[in-house]
Amino acid sequence: MLQRRIVLAGGLGKTGRRIHDRLRARSVDAVGVSRSTLPAFDWRDRATWPAALAGATAAYVTHQPGLADPGAADDIAVFATIAAEMGIEHVVLLSIHGGRSALRAEERLRRAPLDHTILRASWFAENFAEGALRDGIISGDVPLPATDIREPFVSADDIADAAVEALCDPAHLNRTYAITGPRALRLSDALAEIAAASGLTIRWRRSAGADDTAPADRRRPAFPLKRGARDGRVADDLERILGRKGLDFADYVERARAAGAWSG
Ligand SMILES: NC(=O)c1ccc[n+]([C@@H]2O[C@H](COP(=O)([O-])OP(=O)(O)OC[C@H]3O[C@@H](n4cnc5c(N)ncnc54)[C@H](OP(=O)(O)O)[C@@H]3O)[C@@H](O)[C@H]2O)c1
Repeated sequence: MLQRRIVLAGGLGKTGRRIHDRLRARSVDAVGVSRSTLPAFDWRDRATWPAALAGATAAYVTHQPGLADPGAADDIAVFATIAAEMGIEHVVLLSIHGGRSALRAEERLRRAPLDHTILRASWFAENFAEGALRDGIISGDVPLPATDIREPFVSADDIADAAVEALCDPAHLNRTYAITGPRALRLSDALAEIAAASGLTIRWRRSAGADDTAPADRRRPAFPLKRGARDGRVADDLERILGRKGLDFADYVERARAAGAWSG
C-alpha cells in the first residue's frame, strides 16, 4: 500500500498553512506547494502540476485567482485528471458560495475519476487581519463594495479543522458542505466590532462594487463581496463535522487583537 501523503495546493496561504500544521501534528505527511516552493506549482502553468503532485495520495486545493475566475472550471478539471493519473485518490476543494463559475468547477471535480469533498466557505474572518482589509483598517480608511450584505464570516482555523477532518475521515468522501461562521453581520458591523475592540478609528464608505447601486467613488473597494447564493444564511455543516460551533466573529476579533493583528 502507498504511504499516505497529502499535497496542499496553495499550501502557504491562509487555510493551506494551517492545514499543513494540523496534519503534521497528527504525523500525517503533508507538503504545501505554490509558485515559491520547490518543486513549484503555478495555476497558470500546467506543466508544473505533475511534478508538484508526484507521490501524493490526496490533495487539498485552493484555486488562484479563485473559483469565480472564468478559467477555474477548466483548471479544476485538468488538475483532477492529472491528479488521478498521478495516483491521487481524493481531492478536497475549497470553494465559495454561489456563482456559475464555481458551480461549474465543482461539477467538473465531481465527474473526475477520484473521490472529492467540497468545502464552500464564507468570507474568511482573516481578511480583516491577514488579508485585503488589514492595511485599510490600520490606516483608518476602508472603501467597501456594498454595506448591506450580511456575511457569516468564518475563521480560517475552523476551515482548516474541517479540511483536516475531510482529508482524514472517509465519512466525508463525496460530500459538499457549507462552511460558515455562526453569525452573519454586515461589513460595516464587522469593522465597528474591530474598531471597538482595537481602539482604532475606522472610517468606511461605499465605493464601486458588484452589488453596489449607490454612487461610486473612484477608489476600488478593498475587495469585492458579491451577494452570494446563501446571502447571509448560517449553515450547521461545520458543527456537524467538528462537533462544535465555529468561532464567533467577536471572539475572532479578540483573538486577532491580542495577537497584535492591527498594531501597525
Ligand atoms: N479569502 C476569503 O475570504 C475566501 C473565502 C472563500 C474561499 N476562498 C478561496 O480561498 C483561496 C485562497 O484565497 P486567499 O485569497 O485568501 O489567498 P491566500 O490564502 O492568501 O493564498 C494565497 C496563496 O496562493 C499562492 N498563489 C498565488 N498565486 C498562485 C498561483 N498562480 N499558483 C499557485 N499558487 C498561487 C500564494 O503562494 P505563492 O506566492 O508562493 O504562489 C499564496 O500562498 C482562493 O481560491 C479563494 O477563492 C477565499
